[in-house]
Amino acid sequence: MKIFPIPILCLVLLCFCAAFTEAEYLKYKDPKQPLNVRIKDLMMRMTIEEKIGQMSQIERKLASPDILKKYFIGSVLSGGGSVPAPKASAESWVNMVNELQKGALSTRLGIPMIYGIDAVHGHNNVYNATIFPHNVGLGVTRDPELLKRIGAATALEVRATGIQYAFAPCIAVCRDPRWGRCYESYSEDHKIVQSMTEIIPGLQGDLPNNSRKGVPFVAGKTKVAACAKHFVGDGGTVKGIDENNTVIDYNGLLSIHMPAYLDSIRKGVATVMVSYSSWNGKKMHANYDLVTGFLKNKLKFRGFVISDWQGIDKITDPPHSNYSYSVQAGVLAGLDMVMLPENFTEFIDELTSQVKTNIIPMSRINDAVRRILRVKFVMGLFENPLADLSLKNQLGSQEHRELAREAVRKSLVLLKNGKRANEPLVPLPKKVPKILVAGSHADNLGNQCGGWTMEWQGVQGNDLTVGTTILSAVKKTVDPSTQVVYTKNPDSNFVRTNKFSYAIVVVGEVPYAETFGDSKNLSIIEPGPSTIKNVCGAVKCIVVVVSGRPVVMEPYVAHIDALVAAWLPGTEGQGVADVLFGDYGFIGKLARTWFRSVDQLPMNAGDLHYDPLFPFGNVIGSCLNYNIYIPICMHDKKVDAI
Ligand SMILES: *[C@@H]1O[C@H](CO)[C@@H](O)[C@H](O)[C@H]1NC(C)=O
Ligand SMILES: *[C@@H]1O[C@H](CO)[C@@H](O)[C@H](O)[C@H]1NC(C)=O
Ligand SMILES: *[C@@H]1O[C@H](CO)[C@@H](O)[C@H](O)[C@H]1NC(C)=O
Ligand SMILES: *[C@@H]1O[C@H](CO)[C@@H](O)[C@H](O)[C@H]1NC(C)=O
Ligand SMILES: *[C@@H]1O[C@H](CO)[C@@H](O)[C@H](O)[C@H]1NC(C)=O
Ligand SMILES: *[C@@H]1O[C@H](CO)[C@@H](O)[C@H](O)[C@H]1NC(C)=O
Repeated sequence: MKIFPIPILCLVLLCFCAAFTEAEYLKYKDPKQPLNVRIKDLMMRMTIEEKIGQMSQIERKLASPDILKKYFIGSVLSGGGSVPAPKASAESWVNMVNELQKGALSTRLGIPMIYGIDAVHGHNNVYNATIFPHNVGLGVTRDPELLKRIGAATALEVRATGIQYAFAPCIAVCRDPRWGRCYESYSEDHKIVQSMTEIIPGLQGDLPNNSRKGVPFVAGKTKVAACAKHFVGDGGTVKGIDENNTVIDYNGLLSIHMPAYLDSIRKGVATVMVSYSSWNGKKMHANYDLVTGFLKNKLKFRGFVISDWQGIDKITDPPHSNYSYSVQAGVLAGLDMVMLPENFTEFIDELTSQVKTNIIPMSRINDAVRRILRVKFVMGLFENPLADLSLKNQLGSQEHRELAREAVRKSLVLLKNGKRANEPLVPLPKKVPKILVAGSHADNLGNQCGGWTMEWQGVQGNDLTVGTTILSAVKKTVDPSTQVVYTKNPDSNFVRTNKFSYAIVVVGEVPYAETFGDSKNLSIIEPGPSTIKNVCGAVKCIVVVVSGRPVVMEPYVAHIDALVAAWLPGTEGQGVADVLFGDYGFIGKLARTWFRSVDQLPMNAGDLHYDPLFPFGNVIGSCLNYNIYIPICMHDKKVDAI
């Protein structure tokens, strides 16, 4: 028997061990490898089926671990109101997402899926989450740092449920309040919208100093991938008709609707969603020049482009009338991930066949997959694909509710204060014998939250989630000796005979979303106008308007003593009472023009003919007119000395 000399034995063993580890070592799974090396290594291993699976985002109702495994699905979403169970807890969300994730991880290459949801004013599909004011109110605050904190809180609440991707922010520049999505827009002024993109580093984390332009960035397990939407011109459609045609020249598109995309990309936004709308008659979902030519090539956006819900179906009119064409036009225009709420196998089959017949070049598929994988690698999804319950107490936490309450305070706009200059009604006295609270929106959490809350279209009433109505906030704020009488729609005789010191009337719009919110008349619903008439005709009154946009007010404004725009404040109604009763000052300035009558529309600040009821930037009764508030008006500090 020949004895190997020791050094040779060592060498043999070494080779054996190296060969063994090499078999186990997958470069793409090594977080120490550079990003591009990981992407390249993984792409090299992928089949066409695996690549097209990555491009498919399916609705959770279609998803199961087996489906994810069988079709190599890259992403799952919850549509508005699509929840694992009514009033589901953080645990049941986490379990659902993790179960699906295990399906994805059990595939040959184990590429994790990314789960997306419309967390557009807080984590708004989830019971007991903090619901922040809708964007129309946040634009009023003109406070980017506040937006960043809201983004960070939202990211924590979304992660608390195991979800890694929020379809927010909407950076539409709404130019016509008749649009049913106007409340999703921060302002008619693109500069305000641009500054509000600070919510992106809140959601995703601060961009490292050495990051390259356009490269997406998401800071890990307490942050989520964000989505700037809807690219581009969604807020500029004719007469504010949802999903319609934005008629504007190239310079107009670039100077009004595009700027906030530059800010978002500079801040490392991970994804961009394409708009349903058309630009000068061309559907954005099929617009190669803007999606690929401008967004990807000129602006150097390196994250992924996602379609809207059935966005490719709607490339044709009627939708889905030529699906082959839709897939071809959408993917060739530059869509990387396609949102598929219905028949996802139809998409996969169609796209596969178009790639196999060279209608869609493989290079286009590779571009899409490279972008999707880049986001997944950057955010650490391969290292941390499964969620735990460590963040569950973040959902609706007291700290986040305090933040939302601060946002509510800063989003209120005082439009009128007293019938005469020297007779202001606000701040309302806390200690009086008896006050009246009235109106359809005084004790209605659902109305306060608006659309995209628990359900896509929102829900009326107080059972939808946990929060504070304006009525209960008023009761908590007044002196214990003050009697608060609440009547939804009192007649004038009741008001007159009751000897109220004053009345608070809360009226407005009922919840809506998207096309269902399109309105030609922008009138507040009955009995709102009657309540204003009955109450304000009989006693000194303040009207608080809860609405997703300016609404018709001119006929009533002379009869009311004070008027406040509260927008859609969300669950923390206490913020309204904080300011009405003077614990904090009014600091909000209109971020939209308040029209007199709908026939003036569209009418925006800077227009040649500008004759609003209340102008953009309106400060009536705020810091400038309100001596006592001057020291605090920029700071939302508590008023000590009233
Ligand atoms: C970027 O650099 C500045 C100073 O140049 C530093 O204050 C900041 O913390 C850095 N930010 C990050 C995210 O590294
Ligand atoms: C815009 O709306 C009109 C009226 O509803 C409709 O006929 C037209 O097809 C729409 N255009 C687009 C591009 O959606
Ligand atoms: C559908 O679109 C395809 C691809 O553009 C085209 O070849 C075909 O003729 C269209 N079919 C119909 C029925 O319009
Ligand atoms: C989905 O589309 C495929 C292919 O077009 C079709 O065969 C199938 O019946 C569709 N399934 C459903 C549930 O509509
Ligand atoms: C809501 O969340 C808070 C904070 O996590 C928790 O203390 C509370 O019990 C929850 N309420 C309900 C009704 O689930
Ligand atoms: C305003 O339009 C809506 C439909 O968008 C309609 O239901 C309502 O009755 C109209 N209101 C008035 C006062 O005309």
